[in-house]
Amino acid sequence: MGGINIMELDDRDIIICRCEDGTLADVKDAIHRLGLRSVEEIKRVKRFGMGHCQGKTCGKIIAQIISQELGIPYEDIKPATPRQPAKNIRLDKFANYNGGKNED
Ligand code: FES
Repeated sequence: MGGINIMELDDRDIIICRCEDGTLADVKDAIHRLGLRSVEEIKRVKRFGMGHCQGKTCGKIIAQIISQELGIPYEDIKPATPRQPAKNIRLDKFANYNGGKNED
């Protein structure tokens, strides 16, 4: 039976943040070549964790990779600072905003 043996996948083929096409190789590069040491630093430099999941999924995986690569206990790695998801809002919504008061 054919197929892919996931244990033989190249680090460049393992997606960590699907929003930014971030791979395991990218995260390892951020740690070893760029010297980044936290989920927040990797988020700011590589943008991993700024997509739809806002780091809820990929942030934990990145923390696990940092833990393994640097030999730091997983519990000691802080998550990235959470941010509200941004959404475009039309300016006329602000112009017509009455402070949330009902107009009777
Ligand atoms: S998978 Fe992209 S932000 Fe988490």
